[in-house]
Amino acid sequence: RTLRIGLIAGDGIGKEVIPAGRRILEALPASLGLKFEFIDLKAGWETFQQTGTALPDETVSILKSDCDGALFGAVSSPTTAVKGYSSPIVALRKKLDLYANVRPVKTVVSAPRPIDMVIVRENTEDLYVKEERTVDTPEGKVAEAVKRISQRASSRIAAMAGEIALRRQKIRAAGAPSIHRGPLVTITHKSNVLSQTDGLFRATAREALAGPRFRDAVAVEEQIVDSMVYKLFRQPEAYDVIVAPNLYGDILSDGAAALVGSLGLVPSANVGEGFAIGEPCHGSAPDIQGQGIANPIATLRSAALMLEFLNEEAAAAKIYAAVDANLEEGKLLSPDLGGKAKTEEVVQDILRRL
Ligand code: NAI
Ligand code: MG
Repeated sequence: RTLRIGLIAGDGIGKEVIPAGRRILEALPASLGLKFEFIDLKAGWETFQQTGTALPDETVSILKSDCDGALFGAVSSPTTAVKGYSSPIVALRKKLDLYANVRPVKTVVSAPRPIDMVIVRENTEDLYVKEERTVDTPEGKVAEAVKRISQRASSRIAAMAGEIALRRQKIRAAGAPSIHRGPLVTITHKSNVLSQTDGLFRATAREALAGPRFRDAVAVEEQIVDSMVYKLFRQPEAYDVIVAPNLYGDILSDGAAALVGSLGLVPSANVGEGFAIGEPCHGSAPDIQGQGIANPIATLRSAALMLEFLNEEAAAAKIYAAVDANLEEGKLLSPDLGGKAKTEEVVQDILRRL
């Protein structure tokens, strides 16, 4: 099988880590029967300055018609609003209907406090529909926002969480070391207060996970979002897959990333029907750009995550294992992890293990 992968390096260290993502895909063993074709695509701040748009139409149309998946590095955003500029990744999620944001947060198994969870965030609705208004009242201005929760979006995100839980179990069964015994999905909400919106999310997610595919295979529990934050920090090892509406998922996933020590380790994927964009969680890191010291691991793991959603689990598992082996040994680590290795040395070490 040949996979066509769009490469959107973007700005800053995006240009340093995306080539590493390409190399690890190219270095996968031939026995997997996977071939890759890469297409470099433009987006970001530099693109905006050159062309007047942060996301050229060509990038979107090539992704739509010619690509099976993509890797997105990072883009710089201006700190004050600039006319005509808007975030390309947010636009891509909309244009390609990438309805899930998936963020694995993981330490190595031998860590003093091992963590291995995935946060699955609904990516299309909730308060992020951006239907806000401000009205003048005799007592002053009042601002309101719509929080939209639909059965359709809640059901498909819960089903995706269930699928991810099953897939993780399969990878564990294949011998990957793990801290978990069985698949577990934790539904996060605040339905005790928002009985209609979060209530619908909760009920729909419950129903989806009670279907024949998951009923006997995946354990399901619930956690109110505020106590979820507390438990996430107190007892992160207790979680396997967490599913949440957009806003809670956004906050939980950034918070959880703090548990593993460096942004340079945390991958994500934006996933739709039959398409996935792997994306490291970090930004363009202007403070270290051009020095060759960016940690490539978030991007390598994002490449693996993309492969998982393109149904290439065996290839993904190989990348995860090579990355974990580098981290377990702990000799060639980049400066954000307390080491002295350059991006290139980390990449070489991981490629060798692959
Ligand atoms: P950032 O993630 O770029 O950097 C935060 C800190 O983490 C910095 O000290 C940086 O050196 C470090 N860091 C990040 N990734 C690293 C890696 N792979 N290896 C080693 N150290 C790493 O966030 P910041 O500084 O808030 O934003 C910088 C720019 O990136 C801004 O223009 C922002 O808008 C953009 N950004 C873009 C994102 C995206 O494209 N998805 C996400 C977050 C920020
Ligand atoms: Mg966020």
